[in-house]
Amino acid sequence: MATILRLDTSARAARSITRHLADAFIDAWIAELPESRVTRRDLGRTPPPHVSEEWIAAAFTPQNERTSTMRDALAESDRMIDELAAADLVLVAAPLYNYGLPATLKAWVDQVVRVDRTFTFDLERGDFPIEPVLSGKAMVLLSSRGEFGFGPGGPREGWNHLNPHMRTIATRLLGVADSDFHEVASEFQEFRDERHAHSFKEAERQTRDLATSLAKRLGTAVVT
Ligand SMILES: Cc1cc2nc3c(=O)[nH]c(=O)nc-3n(C[C@H](O)[C@H](O)[C@H](O)COP(=O)(O)O)c2cc1C
Repeated sequence: MATILRLDTSARAARSITRHLADAFIDAWIAELPESRVTRRDLGRTPPPHVSEEWIAAAFTPQNERTSTMRDALAESDRMIDELAAADLVLVAAPLYNYGLPATLKAWVDQVVRVDRTFTFDLERGDFPIEPVLSGKAMVLLSSRGEFGFGPGGPREGWNHLNPHMRTIATRLLGVADSDFHEVASEFQEFRDERHAHSFKEAERQTRDLATSLAKRLGTAVVT
């Protein structure tokens, strides 16, 4: 059975474009693979805690030496890592906020990227001491932007730090192959004009097509 971990990060509820795209993804996926399991974490409504002095001290203490206070400090992180580890696909619905990640998503990243759980650190590896523990996952980043033109040659080229940041996290730390990181975005939300209507419709279509093709591919991989 394929397992999806869905992360909603928008602070908006019913009006949220990213939540709408994530619903469309899940609908198209379930039509293809009805037996799938979907675990949902609404980071927008229930933000994870930020990492703290206690959290860092606990994470860098070997497991068998942790006090019960240290274990408590890592309990939520453990739950989120377990959800991540169980997922074949991580569906991230994330608006562009101030040209970067919503803080709720960054808080989740900081909770799940943890030494000896999701990555190992070994100076024997030279200048690249970090290696992910997880592998074989796919990530889909569904985004929405108020402005437009963040791609190559566009008027805001280089201003979008959300997509490249999540790609780096996924492929360098969470075990997602470069070819298994997928992105769809709707733009022009703040202009509320024809360009937005077109961009939104196109993002919805791409989202559904992506869900169907990934479900076909991952469904086969999970079954065999
Ligand atoms: C706090 C905040 C910051 C935003 N910053 C940007 C931005 O830097 N660039 C941009 O294109 N749109 C920005 N927007 C617009 C959102 O990306 C846009 O409204 C998007 O549709 C929000 O996602 P949602 O519909 O899922 O809530 C911002 C919106 C908010 C609320």
